[in-house]
Amino acid sequence: VGRSSFLIVANRLPVDRIVEQDGTASWRRSPGGLVTAIAPVMQRRHGAWLGWSGAPDEELEPFEQDGMHLISIPLSAEEIELYYEGFSNATLWPLYHDVVATPVFERRMWEAYRAVNERFARAAAEHAEEGAVVWVQDYQLQLVPSMLRELRPDLRIGFFLHIPFPPVELFWQLPWRRELVQGLLGADLVGFQLPGGAANFRRLCRRLLGVPYKGNEIFLEDRVVRTQAFPISVDFGELDEMVRRPEVVSRAKEIRMELGDPEHMLLGVDRLDYTKGIGQRLEAFGELLKDGLISPGEAVFVQIATPSRERVEEYRRLRDDIELQVGRINGETSEFGSQPIQYFHQSYPKDELAALYLAADVMVVTPLRDGMNLVAKEYVSCHHDLHGALVLSEFAGAADELRQAFLVNPYDVEGVKRQMLAAMRATPHELARRMRTMRRRVATYDVDRWAGEFLNSLESPAASDPATS
Ligand code: UDP
Ligand code: G6P
Repeated sequence: VGRSSFLIVANRLPVDRIVEQDGTASWRRSPGGLVTAIAPVMQRRHGAWLGWSGAPDEELEPFEQDGMHLISIPLSAEEIELYYEGFSNATLWPLYHDVVATPVFERRMWEAYRAVNERFARAAAEHAEEGAVVWVQDYQLQLVPSMLRELRPDLRIGFFLHIPFPPVELFWQLPWRRELVQGLLGADLVGFQLPGGAANFRRLCRRLLGVPYKGNEIFLEDRVVRTQAFPISVDFGELDEMVRRPEVVSRAKEIRMELGDPEHMLLGVDRLDYTKGIGQRLEAFGELLKDGLISPGEAVFVQIATPSRERVEEYRRLRDDIELQVGRINGETSEFGSQPIQYFHQSYPKDELAALYLAADVMVVTPLRDGMNLVAKEYVSCHHDLHGALVLSEFAGAADELRQAFLVNPYDVEGVKRQMLAAMRATPHELARRMRTMRRRVATYDVDRWAGEFLNSLESPAASDPATS
């Protein structure tokens, strides 16, 4: 096998294998923020990316795609059900997002999680050069760091968690809490989105394993594990360039015309996930219409809800709920020829999203809990015109950096209504003032800065590492 000096290990490859009914197959960009962030980093620093293709039982030779070297890790249909849909997305996902849905605890799911993590660790060990840097990503692979260290103590191992790390009291519910924490402690550096997540993790280590920490460092018997926050970001330069292209500008104008040229276009872009607060924001918008504070011809809400994890029970229920709600609100408020909510259960390529961001004068991002939320940062990156308002949940990681957004508590319907109205009514001067500050932040802390800081920190020894002092 060819070996690399830099490896990304993630549940998913950056491309998703789509197999049609007639057996023809093609590749599409995988959903979600992890791929948005890591793909440009990989394209600029050559290395290999290990992950699953998105289809069952697919044995593929390593291949090149979009300037990246990809190594596919096969998963069986049963593993997809138990490890991916089960432990990753029915246990860990809700548990780490403040139990906004009830986590499922099933032993067979845990067994599958452990077995699949072992497969990823073995593949990484096989493809890594002596002394290579291996960067493991996200909640699906939390056991990989310690499994990999066992196989290859020569490697430099980093781990980054893209979702929140929960408070000790919630994590404590997990029957396999000790194994998971020990899995993560196999890394040299464990990165989180926010300082609060890193602090939760250190406290947990002390309470669960009795290991001491000081500052960012956790002291194991023979090693030091560093923990730190690295807020993830977007490729600001790429988006900023994209929205200046004439075809994107004219597409944005066309979108407004197709919507009937309303005074306001509000936009939501999310995976159809119960953490995103889609129902809360649509309810608030519906009430503004019913209260007569906005009129149906005046404002259109475009909600893109891309299909996600469709075989997991909670996601199915959510889809039904949202679609009923959209039908109800439109039914109650539409006029002939105009529907206030335009709902799309589809996935869009980057340039179409850029045109949508540019067209929208109010972006509404209201997660109940979100590690970061790249959509918020993408919207900001697309508004060099300084026109456009961001309504943003306090419970998104992005709210720590984007303080000039119209911040909301998504559970507070009246508050969301007030801020949506404020966003629609703000003067151009006020919008520009807010947008300029937010753009400066995202332009400075872009995705390259994020990856650079993580990897620099990973490659430099810990301040108090016994091996170096
Ligand atoms: N996205 C996309 N097509 C779509 C909807 C979303 O490419 O139809 C992208 C979006 O641009 C963003 C990512 O998916 O880069 C979503 O990341 P975010 O951090 O907002 O949420 P996540 O899905 O990771 O929870
Ligand atoms: C979030 C997670 C990622 C995941 C993405 C899409 O961004 O942090 O790890 O890849 O959602 O979810 P999916 O289950 O389709 O991979």
